[in-house]
Amino acid sequence: ASPPSNVNFIIDISTPQYSALQTNGNYVYANSIIIARDSHGNFVALSEVCTHAGCTIQFNGVSQFPCPCHGSIFDENGNVVQGPAPSAVKKYSISLSGNKLTVTG
Ligand code: FES
Repeated sequence: ASPPSNVNFIIDISTPQYSALQTNGNYVYANSIIIARDSHGNFVALSEVCTHAGCTIQFNGVSQFPCPCHGSIFDENGNVVQGPAPSAVKKYSISLSGNKLTVTG
């Protein structure tokens, strides 16, 4: 399946479901997208679906997105750092205003 397109949604990081994103190094999932707050406080949004065999990628708390199934790793642009994933995961735009994170792409 291809990653979501025409994405445009807002999550509120003051709500319990997404409050992990108030702290660097954490991540959540929303609408098939993994949203991470890296170790520098930058927000990153990627398609959660590994391009190898479709497992759900995770975040290592610093700057990389490992897949638990066969060891692929993606960077903050969604590019492959380590295979077997054959191609990048889609990256989305993200911006914070107050407690509201807007994801588009
Ligand atoms: Fe992600 Fe295989 S499904 S590495």
